[in-house]
Amino acid sequence: MTHLKEPRENALHIHHLTVNYDQTPVLWDIDCSIPSGNIVGIIGPNGAGKSTLIKTALGLVQPISGKTTFFGKSLEESRRRIAYVPQRESVDWDFPITVKNLVMMGRYGTLGLFRWPKQADHAAVNHYIEAMGLTPYADRQINQLSGGQQQRAFIARALVQEADIYFMDEPFAGVDMGTEKAIMDMLHHLKSHGKTVFVVHHDLNTVETSFDWILMLNLRLIACGPVVEVFNTDTLMMTYGKTYALLDDVLKISQARSQGIKNR
Ligand SMILES: Nc1ncnc2c1ncn2[C@@H]1O[C@H](COP(=O)(O)OP(=O)(O)OP(=O)(O)O)[C@@H](O)[C@H]1O
Ligand SMILES: [Mg+2]
Repeated sequence: MTHLKEPRENALHIHHLTVNYDQTPVLWDIDCSIPSGNIVGIIGPNGAGKSTLIKTALGLVQPISGKTTFFGKSLEESRRRIAYVPQRESVDWDFPITVKNLVMMGRYGTLGLFRWPKQADHAAVNHYIEAMGLTPYADRQINQLSGGQQQRAFIARALVQEADIYFMDEPFAGVDMGTEKAIMDMLHHLKSHGKTVFVVHHDLNTVETSFDWILMLNLRLIACGPVVEVFNTDTLMMTYGKTYALLDDVLKISQARSQGIKNR
């Protein structure tokens, strides 16, 4: 007897989402579905709406139309299943909190407001602090960490939620190569447990090796699909065409790709 493989569930469905800031559209009629168990890159030039897309999905920004569902359910029903690493620039690094307490904040969803952390919560906090290489800094204030260490502390806070969907807004910004590898290994670990991870990313050279799916954005949705199917010179030009500073990267990729095709 043959077993037909079940189609994968959609971790995220964005339904015709339009977002304005001060009456200016920053996201226009975005509509796509992403199956669970993928590492999904979100790419596009500065100001393309990448952070806004994540913030709208998380209910931090209100759309003028459309909605987002998670495994077919509303945000309210799914909050505990979603973890978020905000973009560095949007974090108040002077907020007086230690690494340990920051990471414990990731447990508040499961803890509820009036329950003290249990042994298991402390163990999970210590585990993810260790996984992000921050054990020596666990009792330090976050403003006394380097940029890369701060980034790792926020990733540990997201990991400790043990969520099903992770949104990471530029987790590789300003981190060294060792840290980038540690974060990437962690993303693969999450994927191997069926989790879905969205990563805002700027390095076009590593898209093909880092991601399964890609969401290409520039006010409108340019493409949303498996990297091997939708990441190509045409979609890159549509996404970055007018962004002079990044054109160089696009050209390098298209040259590398045509080189690859010639060598096949
Ligand atoms: N709170 C806000 N009020 C008004 N306009 C905003 C606000 N936040 C962002 N914008 C504008 O919305 C657009 C999209 O911003 P967003 O932060 O989503 O871009 P992004 O793709 O994340 O860019 P980056 O790569 O620089 O992080 C930009 O033009 C930005 O200036
Ligand atoms: Mg952003």
